[in-house]
Amino acid sequence: MSTVDDITALILDDHAAFRRGFARLDDARDEQELLAVWDALALHLDIHAEAEEAILYPHLVKHGDDGEDETADAIGDHNKIRDAIAEAKLHPVGSEQWWAAVGTARRENSEHLAEEEDEALPDFRRHASFELRAELGQRWLTFYGEHKNGRDLPFRDKDPQRYVADHRAG
Ligand SMILES: [Fe+2]
Ligand SMILES: [Fe+2]
Repeated sequence: MSTVDDITALILDDHAAFRRGFARLDDARDEQELLAVWDALALHLDIHAEAEEAILYPHLVKHGDDGEDETADAIGDHNKIRDAIAEAKLHPVGSEQWWAAVGTARRENSEHLAEEEDEALPDFRRHASFELRAELGQRWLTFYGEHKNGRDLPFRDKDPQRYVADHRAG
């Protein structure tokens, strides 16, 4: 397991990067630094949510003990994070409104990471074989390669119930 790329390990790596990214915002000394840190962090958050919605949750929704609820929660959280990122883009970097939107993204993300790490991922691990975890890990890496810098990803909100209904069967 340690020499292959388990999807849950790849997800945890991203989560750690998000926590570091928000901490780096605290240390940025001017708007240029803020922009550099935030642009990369916001893009990574958006791509990560799309990757989970394409690769992780379609499996969890079908096989998890509480997969439908966990999936609906996650899509709703992803929407809130996406919305806050989109809101931040409407304001000058470093302005009061920008910090408010970034603060919302940070709060929503912290809550979401905790739920994902304490509920969704444990549920997934209980039902996914090592082979599947490695296979989805491979797809995860391919997804990031194909969508470098968010290429071809719309970053649009999804209706949580609709997503569950669409992925529950088949
Ligand atoms: Fe995640
Ligand atoms: Fe997520």
